[in-house]
Amino acid sequence: MDRKRLAVYPGSYDPLTNGHIDIIQRGLKIFDRIVVAVLRNPDKTYLFGLEERCGMLREVFRGTERIEIDHFEGLLVDYVKGRGITTIVRGLRAISDFEIEFQMALMNRKIDPRIETIFFVPSESYSFLSSKLVKEVYRLGGEVGSLVPPIVDLKLKEKFARRA
Ligand code: PNS
Repeated sequence: MDRKRLAVYPGSYDPLTNGHIDIIQRGLKIFDRIVVAVLRNPDKTYLFGLEERCGMLREVFRGTERIEIDHFEGLLVDYVKGRGITTIVRGLRAISDFEIEFQMALMNRKIDPRIETIFFVPSESYSFLSSKLVKEVYRLGGEVGSLVPPIVDLKLKEKFARRA
């Protein structure tokens, strides 16, 4: 049987952090191919537009054949099914993530019982890391270039310099 193991790793990626990359690298130990699916939610205000968020991901994973960058709108389950995939990957940083992730996994399963969610735990050095906090640090004039890829560091500096 030559069935490829595929998974979707959905998220806002506003912006991509090294924590996301850590999860993707762990996911690639188990899955043959991971589709990184960037959410476009018209009701939400993002710092980076969809094209910018996808562009940073493409730059970071350029040449990595087992990673595909895509985007979706609406229900994650519909997107996942439309791609013919049944596995969702998410990261669990700390107990505080557990409640919402548990709810999302069960809701997604309720919508379609064939969907399974698999959680990966990032390196403890990223357990405190979130896109939200990274944005806040850069917005207030700090920088944490060791926590994001160089392209994201650059884009954050550009974004907040333009706003200042
Ligand atoms: O990076 P994030 O913001 O933690 O990712 C959250 C995401 C994109 C996985 C979640 O908001 C999502 O799946 N949104 C799509 C809408 C949906 O399917 N909602 C019902 C899921 S319980």
